[in-house]
Amino acid sequence: MIIEWNSGGSSAAITGDALCVIVSEAELERGSMPAAWKSRIEPLAQAGLFTGKLNQTYLLAAGDLPSHSLVILAGSGIGMPNADEIRVLAAQVSRAAFRHKISVLIIQVPELLMSKEAVTVAQMLTEGLVLGGYRRKHYKQEQPPYRGLTSVVFRTEQQTGEAVNHSWNQGIQRGLAFAEATNLARDLTNLPGNLLTPSTLAAAAIEVAERHGLPAEVLDEREMEQKGMGGLLAVGKGSVHPPRMIAIRYQGTGDWENVIGIVGKGITFDTGGISLKRAPGMEDMISDMGGAAAVLGVIDALGRLRPRVNVVMVIPAAENMPSAAAFKPGDVITSLSGRTVEVLNTDAEGRIVLGDALTYAMEWGAERIIDVATLTGAVLSILGDIATGAVTNDEPFLQELLAASRLSGEKIWPLPVYPEFREMLRSEVADIRNAAGRFGGATTAGLFIGEFAEGRPWIHLDIAGTAFLSKERGVNPKGATGVMVRTMLEYLVNFTCGTGSEQAAASTGN
Ligand code: BES
Ligand code: ZN
Ligand code: MN
Repeated sequence: MIIEWNSGGSSAAITGDALCVIVSEAELERGSMPAAWKSRIEPLAQAGLFTGKLNQTYLLAAGDLPSHSLVILAGSGIGMPNADEIRVLAAQVSRAAFRHKISVLIIQVPELLMSKEAVTVAQMLTEGLVLGGYRRKHYKQEQPPYRGLTSVVFRTEQQTGEAVNHSWNQGIQRGLAFAEATNLARDLTNLPGNLLTPSTLAAAAIEVAERHGLPAEVLDEREMEQKGMGGLLAVGKGSVHPPRMIAIRYQGTGDWENVIGIVGKGITFDTGGISLKRAPGMEDMISDMGGAAAVLGVIDALGRLRPRVNVVMVIPAAENMPSAAAFKPGDVITSLSGRTVEVLNTDAEGRIVLGDALTYAMEWGAERIIDVATLTGAVLSILGDIATGAVTNDEPFLQELLAASRLSGEKIWPLPVYPEFREMLRSEVADIRNAAGRFGGATTAGLFIGEFAEGRPWIHLDIAGTAFLSKERGVNPKGATGVMVRTMLEYLVNFTCGTGSEQAAASTGN
């Protein structure tokens, strides 16, 4: 999508398929909406068809206007919408544009939004448009010709200064990078298991790395064997599609220092293995690489925006299948860290592959780590599909990420980490066991991974509830959401390569 900023020109000069006019409830009540629209909007309000309520849209035919044949009215609610409300409003506009097969849209930025910080408004509007315009790729023989919004112009008749124009352009660029990275993650996550295997996921990662000239590495089974990645090898053993360990490095400063590791669970399909899952809903397990997709999306946006931060991305990719070669309950495996793991349930495979991935990320220099994983059904019992669950060994680190999540609008809720939960993972025959019974499952799963952080600052994000939705909500479509791409990006682009506490101060700048 191409998005431009245009100020000061005459409205007739810019043409599009449709014009979007944003109107607040207060304007409608006071009768102070844009003069050109008053006679058209007032009767709609009286009939209750368009009242300016937040997220309400209404399509007007505007045959009497020379430059636009359609007008999308969009409500902005009462008072000043917050960042998240602006994003969802734009997503609703984008959906309305899609319904009416609009390709080129002009958005009149209302006075109300012109009075708010430009860079934020620009970023939120852009994110909403791109996120709301996402459609899952389909495989029907008939592919309709309409391809969604291709071009958007934000405009105001106000004569704005250099600084304001710069802020708008900066916000648009950041919004495009963040939201298109999210859509990349959604596309990968929505791919069926037969079309996305560990090696095709690796190929997708290499493609992203090459697009931005970033060093990347993919280990095959033999190389993994040599290194001793017993965890990922065990989980991948049952499949005819062998596992892959994928790493990409993004270096934004002169020295490879203060490296942040981002690790994403890459199970391309999770049948549960020998501890087989039941059939209903198993098709949703195509999303078990949602964490991998998210970290790859982050790398894509970093490559575009080039912030001063150092990041290593690691994806352990495998397909969890039952077969004669599969790993089994009762197996004892040796992880890359040397830690031995007693397997009690082959469906608790995510934590096993992530253990090796954390160790590998540290070999690449990661000093602090965020892992993102569709890890447990248990997190759904706690937070539903509303919030991502977090487990950490470093409270200040988590607070910084939570601040980033307030900017992204992606909800994260910390789970309590009591030592008793760690006790539940004790094994009689190995250093640790991979399952600890039904209760407290989201916390124990997280703490299993945390063992492999070797005391370095670490945050685990369980996106099992939030990565894949059963119906559209907010900026998210049904299916893959690309959740945590924008939160991690808000964190990383504001990270100044200092210690934890220095970043908070920087996060309000640029
Ligand atoms: N990939 C699943 C978790 C999951 C469940 C993701 C629902 C998305 C939606 C994970 O590998 C898994 O199977 N976890 C088990 C762990 C249990 C066997 C200890 C679970 O949550 O049931
Ligand atoms: Zn899984
Ligand atoms: Mn599983």
